[in-house]
Amino acid sequence: MYVCLCKGITDTQIRDAVTDGACSMRDLRERLDVANQCGKCGRECKSIIGEYRQAA
Ligand code: FES
Repeated sequence: MYVCLCKGITDTQIRDAVTDGACSMRDLRERLDVANQCGKCGRECKSIIGEYRQAA
């Protein structure tokens, strides 16, 4: 499922990046360029990061 429509980034790509060590929005922005345009995907990105934090 696409999370960031502006950049065409899927939840799978975000989950892979988080699994690979991205633990903040800044990390995700640097790696995938998400939330750098309209910003609408920011909330979803944060919630994915949050899921992994809770699971850790
Ligand atoms: Fe991600 Fe617009 S949907 S920046």
